[in-house]
Amino acid sequence: MRVLVLNGPNLGRLGKRQPEIYGHTTYAQLVALCVEWGRDLGLEVEVRQTNHEGELVDWLNVAADEHTPVVLNAAAFTHYSYAVYDACAQLEAPLVEVHLSDPFTRPEEWRHTSVVSPHAVRVIAGKGVDGYREALAAIAGS
Ligand code: DQA
Repeated sequence: MRVLVLNGPNLGRLGKRQPEIYGHTTYAQLVALCVEWGRDLGLEVEVRQTNHEGELVDWLNVAADEHTPVVLNAAAFTHYSYAVYDACAQLEAPLVEVHLSDPFTRPEEWRHTSVVSPHAVRVIAGKGVDGYREALAAIAGS
């Protein structure tokens, strides 16, 4: 089974970006881990990152067309992008929402809502990069 792991804005700087919140694992390491975890689960994993809302929407539209399961960390788009909400609503294969931190308990109130959660079969937050492993396992078991 092919699975897309899609990452939104600023996640390309993982490891350098506020490591006290997001951890020390680099984005390149996250990509390698997801591919390896996927292989162990019998999944063919492709990991992407974009800072551009339209590009993320384009990828989600292709995932909808191709019935590809998605692991999505939409980063800040999670909290306000109705375009991402509408794109996620079209997905028929499983969608798992993942966050490295737990935005729902962070001090900024705007982080407490998610446009992705209503469409997700699971929401995994606050488990660091290991949350991606859990998300892939959830898809493998779905
Ligand atoms: C994040 C949490 C979001 O609130 C934030 O905007 C991010 C990363 C996370 O993985 O913890 O960029 O999605």
